[in-house]
Amino acid sequence: MKLILAVSLAMVAAVAARAGPPASQAQGIEGRDYRWNMPAGEKLEALKLKGDRKRGEEAYGVCVGCHLQSGAGRPDGSFPQLAGQHTTVLLKQMADIRAGLRDNPTMYPFAATLTDPQELADVAAYIEQLCIPLEHGRYEGKDADRQVAIGRALYEKECRDCHGASGEGVKEKFYPVIAGQHYRYLLRQMTEIRDGRRRNANPDMVRIISKYSNDQLVAISAYQSSLVMPGSLCKARGPANRK
Ligand code: HEC
Ligand code: HEC
Repeated sequence: MKLILAVSLAMVAAVAARAGPPASQAQGIEGRDYRWNMPAGEKLEALKLKGDRKRGEEAYGVCVGCHLQSGAGRPDGSFPQLAGQHTTVLLKQMADIRAGLRDNPTMYPFAATLTDPQELADVAAYIEQLCIPLEHGRYEGKDADRQVAIGRALYEKECRDCHGASGEGVKEKFYPVIAGQHYRYLLRQMTEIRDGRRRNANPDMVRIISKYSNDQLVAISAYQSSLVMPGSLCKARGPANRK
C-alpha cells in the first residue's frame, strides 16, 4: 500500500514537473550554500559551444512574441531588451530560468522548449548579432534631469565598480549591461533584487542595494535608462527596426 502510494505520488510529481515551472530551488540568497553563479549545468556547457546564428534565429521564434524579432522587448518594461546584452548574461539567465533559480512563470513554458545547451548557444549567437534599437523606455517625469543627476551620483558610488563607467557590465563576470535598458524593467529588477525576490542575484549586489529606498531606485533607473546601450546602433528605418 505504502509503495503504491509512493509510486503514484512520484508520478504526479513527474507530470506536474513537466507541465509547469520547476519548484523554486531551495537555494535562496539566504541559503548557506548558495553560490549565485555555480560553474555547472547547461550554462557551462553552452558557454563552451559555438552558437549557430541561423539555427538560433529559428529557435528564437518562440521568443518573438514577447522580446520581438529585433530583441527590443517593450518600452513599458514588461519584457526586457535582449539586443546588446552580453552572451554570458543571456546564457546564465536562460539557464537559471529553466532551472527555477530565477522565477519567471511567464517565460518558463517557452524557455523550456529549447532542447539542449547547443540550442541555448544558438539563440545567444542570434541575439548577439542584433543591432541596438534606437528607442527604449526612459523615465518620463518632468523632473527627469534632476532624477538622472541624483541617480548618476548614487550609481558612481556603489554600482560602477561592477556595472562599469557607462553601464556596460563585464562579459567575463556575467555582470549585465544596464545602460539603455527599459526604465520600468530596471526599476522592477532592482526592487526584486533588493527585496530578495530575484534569487539568482549576486549576493554582493544584494548586500549593497538592500539599503536603497524606492525613491533612490527610481533615480538610479532614470539614470541608467538615460544612457545608450553600447554596441552598433540600428540604422533608422532599417529592417531590424521595423518590428
Ligand atoms: C511569454 C513572454 C516571454 C517569452 C515567450 C520569452 N520571454 Fe524572456 N522574459 C520574459 C519576461 C517577462 C522577462 C523578465 C522577467 C522579470 O521581470 O523578471 C524575460 C527575461 C528574459 C531574459 C533575462 C534578461 C535580463 O536582462 O536578465 C532573457 C535572457 C530572456 N528573457 C530570453 C528569452 C529567450 C531566449 C526566449 C525564447 C526562448 C524568451 N526569453 C521567451 C518573457 C518572455
Ligand atoms: C558585485 C558586483 C555588483 C554590484 C556592486 C552591483 N551589481 Fe547589479 N548585478 C550584478 C550581477 C552579477 C547581476 C546579475 C545577477 C544575476 O545573475 O541574476 C546584476 C544585476 C543587476 C540588474 C538587473 C539587470 C538585468 O538585466 O536584469 C540591475 C538593474 C542592477 N544589477 C543594478 C545595480 C545597481 C543599481 C547597483 C548599485 C546599487 C548594482 N547593480 C551593484 C553585479 C553587481
